[in-house]
Order: sequence, then structure tokens, then C-alpha cells
Amino acid sequence: MTSEENPAEMAPTTADLPVLKVALLGCGVVGSSVARMLVDNADDLASRVGARLELIGIAVRRPDRPRPDVPVDPSLFTADADTLVRGADIVIEVIGGIDPARELILTAMQHGASVVTANKALLAEDGPTLYAAAGEHGVDLYYEAAVAGAIPIVRPMRESLVGDDVQRVLGIVNGTTNFVLDKMDSTGAGFAETVEQAQSLGYAEADPTADVEGFDAAAKAAILASLAFHTRVSIDDVHREGITEVTAADIQAARDMDAVVKLLAICELVRDESGAPSGVSVRVHPAMIARSHPLASVRDAYNAVFVEAAAAGELMFYGKGAGGDPTSSAVLGDVVAVARHRLAGGHGPTESAYADLPVVDMGQATTRYHISLAVADRPGVLAQVASAFAEHGVSIETVRQRVLGEGDERASLVIVTHRAPDSALAATVDALTGLDTVDAVVSWMRVEGA
Ligand code: HSE
Repeated sequence: MTSEENPAEMAPTTADLPVLKVALLGCGVVGSSVARMLVDNADDLASRVGARLELIGIAVRRPDRPRPDVPVDPSLFTADADTLVRGADIVIEVIGGIDPARELILTAMQHGASVVTANKALLAEDGPTLYAAAGEHGVDLYYEAAVAGAIPIVRPMRESLVGDDVQRVLGIVNGTTNFVLDKMDSTGAGFAETVEQAQSLGYAEADPTADVEGFDAAAKAAILASLAFHTRVSIDDVHREGITEVTAADIQAARDMDAVVKLLAICELVRDESGAPSGVSVRVHPAMIARSHPLASVRDAYNAVFVEAAAAGELMFYGKGAGGDPTSSAVLGDVVAVARHRLAGGHGPTESAYADLPVVDMGQATTRYHISLAVADRPGVLAQVASAFAEHGVSIETVRQRVLGEGDERASLVIVTHRAPDSALAATVDALTGLDTVDAVVSWMRVEGA
């Protein structure tokens, strides 16, 4: 058979394409998946980029350790990350943490490499330093994998929606906590028991602090808010509350109002009385959200980011927020993008922080509260409770009373407020706690999504 009869022989070859040298820092769950994809998809990636992506080394702590799941020449493993990054065109950083990742990224950029990183902690702590180095050296800094794993959300925020005005971002950006809250909702079990179950199934780490205390989500919130509002937001600016205090009673209270409890990363534009943007509110906390809201349907360990923009309206980005292959999908997308830029002789978007809005205190954030009270059931109690709200300028949206058994003159009151500053809502809860007709503020939780 001749090549005229066999089209496969006529297929364009990628062997003659130029080469871009790729260094990989880290070979854990994500790094090994990235290495596999670079090797297994080499021809397709070369065709998509217009250059072959040659893996020149993988920096690991123990280069001699056998890694049968990573199909590369074992001589590519090195403990000398510093030398490796100096000879690369593209550096992929999936080590995580602040140091040595920061130094390696800065060294890579100084030596002319574009950087693709999944490092949310570093970006949320010191993103401007990385951006400044990228700008100084004319290279790319891409980080799609840093927020919500496989879900394309960084590029939509940085590029697709950059012509619009983002008003609010509500994200379920931590799969572990979503798994725990979802199981608490479906089983009625408590927090501790559900975390144990999540650990035994491999959804939660042995030390789940970063997830359940909201640190992981707070880093992602800082990155999303910076992009959404063209303002530098660091993790220290993010108000953070985790899910450790969420009880089975809170979950049931949410069920009673046809809502679910989610750990939300909330980034909101704050406007002054004239409607002009005057600040940003960035916070992570558990909140009730109506079952009719699209985020309520995000089950198990899935992530989703709900964006409200002036012209686009409401958008939701949904998918897997963690795991080797899903995260690698985001990393490889970035690698192809920065490789294309290098071939074309340019770079992608740089930092956009021109709006420079202040980050407002949690007290100034506006939200709604769901408050559950145990009260005396006698004349004047409702009036006294209502006046505590009025005195703090908080408007009540709904009140539901249930008498607790016959003859004991106790009742349960469930109150949902309209939007008000968080400081006024918190002060109202304090005032309610001090009323002699209120036996207990049984629970309170913010309500979001409306
Ligand atoms: N631990 C995170 C989660 C994934 O549970 O979603 C990495 O950010």
C-alpha cells in the first residue's frame, strides 16, 4: 500500500515542530497526573500548541523513589528544583504551600519561564509579588487549577467576563465541606460523625482543619474577589467561619424552610448610596440557601461557582473541584495557553487591580439571618422580640411560631430577616439573648442567595 492509499501515512507529523521545555515541580496526585497527560497526549498537545512540550525534569523530594504510575524516564526525577526551573520555558508548580514554591516560581520567571500553578495558598497570600515578577519578565502567570479544580472559572473571570461588571460571586469551592454538609442533610447525622465517614471514604484529610475551618475556601475567595472586582484581596482580608459549629439542628432548621446549608465563598461589590462601587465584601461562612437556588443542587464533593454580572446575568460553573485528573485538566489547559503565547511572542492577561476598592469589614456586609428562639408563650412576647429587631434597624421577613407541647407555655419562634448589615443582625441576636422572655437563641445562621 502506498501513502496515497493509506491516509495515516500522510498525517502531519509533530516531530519537526519546535520544542518548548517544560519543568514539573511536584509529583503527588496532581503532578503524576500532569506528567501522564503530558506523555500520553504528547502528539495532540503538540498539534494544539504548534510546538512539542518536552518534559525536561520533575522536581521531587525523593528522586530515587520508584514511581511506576508515572511513565517517564526515571532520570528525569531530580531533587534540584532550583537548577531545573532555570532551564525551562514553562514551569508547572504543583508542590503547594508558600515556600519553596514562591522562590522557585520567582526564579523561574527571572530566567524567562512562564508559570502555571495550582497554588491557591501562595496566590491568596502573595499574588501581587508573582504578578509583578511575571510583568517584569514578560512571562505568563496562569492558575486555573487554583480555584475549583477542573472547573474553568479563573479564565472566565479573567477573560470571558472582563467586559462585564461582576456584581457577586457565590461559590461552593471546597468539596470536603460540601460532602460533609450534603451527608448531614441526607442522613440527619451530626458534624463529627459525618467527618469521620468522609475521612474513611477518602473525602476528608486525616487532619481536615484547612477544609472544615474554611481556610481552603478563603484562599479561593480571595483569588475570585481579586479577579471579579479588579482589586487586590488577600486571604487576610477574607472573613472566615468554618462548618465545625453546624449542628444537625441547623440542618433540620434549613430543611424546615426548604433550604440547605452550604459553606459559601461570597464575593460582593458594595455600593454607596449613589450606587457607585465603594468596596468589596469577601467572606466564607456556612449559610442557608433555598433548595430552588442552583447552588442547592450541588451534591457530594462537587464544586460550583455562581456568578451574577450586570449584562450577562446569572451564570453557574459546575464540576469536580479536586482530584488528580480533574485538576490536571485545568493545569494542561493553562500549559497549552501559555505555550501558544510563547510561540506567538506575547503573553496573556496581567494583574488587573486598577479599581483598588477597600475590603469592607464583615459588620458592613449585608446578609439575612435565620434565627430560631425558644420563648415564653404569653402576651407581649412577640412584641418584645419584634422591638429588639426594630431597635437595631432590622426588618423581619417571616415569623413562624410553634407551641411546644400543651400547657407548658413555651414556644419556638423562627424568624427570617430581610437584608441588613451583619453588625446589626449580630447585635440583634445579642439583644435577644438578654431578653427575659427568651429562654435561648437556639440557633442562628445567615441566609444567602436571594
Ligand atoms: N481540599 C479541597 C477540597 C481541594 O476539599 O475541595 C483542594 O483545594
